[in-house]
Amino acid sequence: MSEVETVLSCESARAMVSRKVFVEAFGCQMNFLDGELAVSRLSEHGWARTADPEDADLILFNTCSIRDQSENRVWSRLGALRPRKERDPGLLIGIMGCMAQRDAESILRRMPHVDLVCGTRRFHEMHTLVERAETEGQVIAIETDGFVDIVRDVRVRPQRHRAYVSVMRGCDHKCSYCIVPTTRGVQTDRPFEDVVDEVRRLAEDGVREVTFLGQNINTYGRYLPGRPTLGDAIRAVDQIDGIDRIRFLTSNPMDIRDELLEAMAETPSAAGYLHFPAQHGHSDVLRRMFRGYSRERYLEVCAKAREVCPGIELATDLIVGFPGETEAEFEATRSLMEEVRFKQIYVFKYSPRPGTAAAEQYVDDVSDQTKRERKNELLALQDSISVERNQALVGTQIRVLVDGPSPRNAARLSGRAEGQHMVILDGSPDLAGEFVNVHVERATAAALYGVLVPETGA
Ligand code: SAH
Ligand code: F3S
Repeated sequence: MSEVETVLSCESARAMVSRKVFVEAFGCQMNFLDGELAVSRLSEHGWARTADPEDADLILFNTCSIRDQSENRVWSRLGALRPRKERDPGLLIGIMGCMAQRDAESILRRMPHVDLVCGTRRFHEMHTLVERAETEGQVIAIETDGFVDIVRDVRVRPQRHRAYVSVMRGCDHKCSYCIVPTTRGVQTDRPFEDVVDEVRRLAEDGVREVTFLGQNINTYGRYLPGRPTLGDAIRAVDQIDGIDRIRFLTSNPMDIRDELLEAMAETPSAAGYLHFPAQHGHSDVLRRMFRGYSRERYLEVCAKAREVCPGIELATDLIVGFPGETEAEFEATRSLMEEVRFKQIYVFKYSPRPGTAAAEQYVDDVSDQTKRERKNELLALQDSISVERNQALVGTQIRVLVDGPSPRNAARLSGRAEGQHMVILDGSPDLAGEFVNVHVERATAAALYGVLVPETGA
């Protein structure tokens, strides 16, 4: 056999033996989806997914830079892989996502056993990057130019009846604390037809609920010809057979327009749920955060959303311990929560991110202990609000998309209501992926418990 033939037969043997990739995403839903898109590309080139890192030929971490803590978690996971790589030099280790984009050189310096560092805009080339890492040694792919091709094989996805759909990338805002515009770049919108086409393909493959993803999703379409809006996308996708629930994440309150709320109100499958991070309850802090709205404006948007979409559930992110946050300013966040009574809150301790305006201009002067106390205080307050709000639903009937066996008790089922309530019920595992009506009998802060209401056949 000639040398060329030997190379070819090795190549084809390699393509035929399915190698295994283990992916773990840290951070936000967008990271989670990008990891899936990378797996989709790899699967077109002979790779199969494994849920067991010990069994993997390639371990991919999709990293997050939003807080120091998110990065530390990845550093320690990478460190822990060092002995395994020594034992098994054929193992490939790849880092993708925001930390990879921001810190490629230092990742390779601190962790020389890493083979591949792929930023936030090159994951669609994952199969070629892996090949290059095998033949050329360490690869860095963090270029920010060019088109991010996110068309995917919709069959490669972790959940059968729910799916995320990326509609835009990056963010044009410059909130003073936020690293996202640095790691993910400016806003680029995905063509409208591509979004609708992907949802159609997902629906044909059994998906019932889609969640559009974008960092500032309510400005979707501003760079597209004809300037379609998120509302237009919701209306278009509502027409697709099989899609019964549409969600989207996340919206900067500054950019919420009545047109979006009206589209939600008019569209039967648009879930009555709006995640639009307030970040803080005090206008002075919001100003220091460069958020572009005041407490009063935020409350106006909440009132408008509830007027246009009766029954809508509101959710928020909140940051505690932003530089200079006084006790009185913190109290304003508490009172905002009491006034709005959110369905859900996500609380973060402020973490200075290198290069952001807040890190450069302000001293991180709230101690970690105070940040922790403030965070716990808000979580406890939300718990009491959630108990009350959930108990008000006892005796009512709600529509639930069943996920499957409950993670806490596999003998029962769990699912989600339109407003993102977790619902626990008894029923056959065959109901996974089905919409059912549930009579709520009991409620805690975390979940609603109920029984199936038989369909009347109407
Ligand atoms: N696109 C979203 C935010 C994305 S980042 C928006 O419109 O606001 C996700 C969340 O992480 C933010 O909402 C914020 O609450 C939190 N976050 C971002 N940077 C942070 C930092 N430096 N320290 C602590 N929390 C931060
Ligand atoms: Fe970050 Fe603000 Fe954009 S929080 S993602 S810069 S809207």
